[in-house]
Amino acid sequence: MSIRRRDLLGIRFLAKEDLEWLLSHSDQYFPNILSKDPVKKSTLLAGRTVANLFFENSTRTRTSFELAEKRLGADAVSLSMQTSSLSKGESLIDTVNVITAMKIDCIVVRHNAGGVPLLLRKHLPDHIRIINAGDGACEHPTQALLDAATLIEVMGSLPGKKIVIVGDILHSRVARSNIYLLKALGAEVTVVAPNTLMPKYIREVFDVEAHYDLDHVLAGKDAVMALRIQHERQGKGYIPSLGDFRKKYGLTPSRLSVTDAFILHPGPVNRSVELDDEAADAERSLILRQVGRGVAIRMAVLEWLFSEH
Ligand code: CP
Repeated sequence: MSIRRRDLLGIRFLAKEDLEWLLSHSDQYFPNILSKDPVKKSTLLAGRTVANLFFENSTRTRTSFELAEKRLGADAVSLSMQTSSLSKGESLIDTVNVITAMKIDCIVVRHNAGGVPLLLRKHLPDHIRIINAGDGACEHPTQALLDAATLIEVMGSLPGKKIVIVGDILHSRVARSNIYLLKALGAEVTVVAPNTLMPKYIREVFDVEAHYDLDHVLAGKDAVMALRIQHERQGKGYIPSLGDFRKKYGLTPSRLSVTDAFILHPGPVNRSVELDDEAADAERSLILRQVGRGVAIRMAVLEWLFSEH
């Protein structure tokens, strides 16, 4: 039994039937995103107002939410940390109270602190929907949905498919949401990281295979999802250097030669660190397809939140 369809706080809160509904429903929006035809606009969210509150930087997620909202007929406003009164010392809750006093139906929130979407759920009235656009190292549910939709499109289905997630697993909300979702959909998930960037009890908590050697697991996999090395963590002793990380965990031409796996990356990509140009720009790289799917998935999420099924 799923929680009421008023929020998307994390993949872990959703029933399989809801996940499948969101994935299959994004298909109806995707062809128009790929085509050269004018955008097909709907009035599904006419009269609704969505506030995009991004307290952490974003290119893909923020832009695609704004486009999804406008294409469904909603009014959209966006606020960022740098340009809001948060930079003058206003608290998060006071800022959210100010925004919701203007009659807002939905908040899309990104924050570098894990748990902020849940905090807002407890604080705000029931009728305001909340979408998690990435909270700390906890979850990034729409990223995982767009990743799964992309994989299903190119592979047909996920049950039994072997997916490797490689990189900074420790700090990655993308990894967590993907592990929840890919496993719920029947894929076999292996995570690979240096031991400093691997959560200690990941096998027990998430029931995944965990390895420290990418070359040991690469052959025979269907897809490899590389994660961004977060530059802000450089100098904190997690990895000796970016060059060392590339050598051990980067998708280099020599690694590409031992696998036919599709290549995914949530972006932004550090070229010559997680992915060499040959991997990022390869025919089997799905990176820009993931971005296009992002708009379609976010349209499906908004439709799901504002319609009863
Ligand atoms: N994948 C992702 O969340 O990218 P942005 O930080 O650009 O939104």
